[in-house]
Amino acid sequence: MRIGVLGSGLMGGKLGAIFARAGHEIVFSYARREEKLTRLAWAAGAAARAGAPREATQGADALLLAVHWSRIDDVLKQAGDLSGKVIVTCCLPLNPGNTELVVGRASSGAEELAKKAPRARIVSAFHTVPSEVLFDVFERKLARPSLVYSGDEQSSKAIAAALIRDAGFDPVDAGPLKSARYSEPFGLLVGHLAYNGSGGPELAYRFERECRPISLIAARNSRSFSDIWFARKRSNSDASSGARITPLSDIFSRPIRSASWSTMRIWVRDTPKRSPRSAKDAGCDTPSGDSRPS
Ligand SMILES: NC(=O)c1ccc[n+]([C@@H]2O[C@H](COP(=O)([O-])OP(=O)(O)OC[C@H]3O[C@@H](n4cnc5c(N)ncnc54)[C@H](OP(=O)(O)O)[C@@H]3O)[C@@H](O)[C@H]2O)c1
Repeated sequence: MRIGVLGSGLMGGKLGAIFARAGHEIVFSYARREEKLTRLAWAAGAAARAGAPREATQGADALLLAVHWSRIDDVLKQAGDLSGKVIVTCCLPLNPGNTELVVGRASSGAEELAKKAPRARIVSAFHTVPSEVLFDVFERKLARPSLVYSGDEQSSKAIAAALIRDAGFDPVDAGPLKSARYSEPFGLLVGHLAYNGSGGPELAYRFERECRPISLIAARNSRSFSDIWFARKRSNSDASSGARITPLSDIFSRPIRSASWSTMRIWVRDTPKRSPRSAKDAGCDTPSGDSRPS
């Protein structure tokens, strides 16, 4: 993709360099000194160059907007025609001292940006992590952290999600653009932990969801995997009433249907003496607590 960077400071400079290393063509723009843009482009490699905001915008598949909230109007004006452009914004609507959000609750910076650039396709992303962690994540020094993004239009969100993945994060679709009302204050929390916490600013986050759709009930006396049986719970709370026994081989020969199953936990019971003859023997009609790991 060709990506125009509007605002080449901490976020724009680093993300632009990362996107270049991920194989994208980059135009760095909007800094107070042109030499800075040239230096960034030189460091990012042959696929990067420096330019004016208008050059960054023309022909871009996506724009990364990374300026202080007070510079939004100016950079949009300099960018020119933004009709149909995907703008991935990491901007937080902060006051000049960067101490407080100046937009919130009933709106968000991302929504206000959409009003300022009504013909652009806005996606809010990258605003919930400090710039200090970006290279570490890209270089896989951290296990792939989450990164929330939101927007109102699927094709622009797909572009943002691809860029998030390229940067080494796991994209988490937070829904419509108005979800930025939640994610922007969350960005401040992450910033607070990064800059005021004791562990340093190289901080990212990861959402985890516990999955319990399948419990493994080990066959009594089982010695090999093929002897192991599964009980699929109909509900998390009751393994006894709705449990259905399925051989292990059957489970693995079928695609798992539920997209919400991000992890499959296998819980193996201690192996008592007898071999299974019925659901009862296999442990499937025992209370749900019985399927816990021994
Ligand atoms: N930094 C973070 O960790 C972080 C994390 C999450 C979200 N954000 C948000 O991301 C956005 C960008 O943050 P940032 O830290 O990258 O900001 P930054 O380092 O200050 O970068 C802003 C860019 O805008 C340029 N600029 C400012 N005034 C200008 C002017 N009058 N004319 C031309 N260029 C001008 C700066 O030029 P110079 O390079 O010459 O200074 C710089 O390249 C902000 O909205 C911030 O709230 C930041």
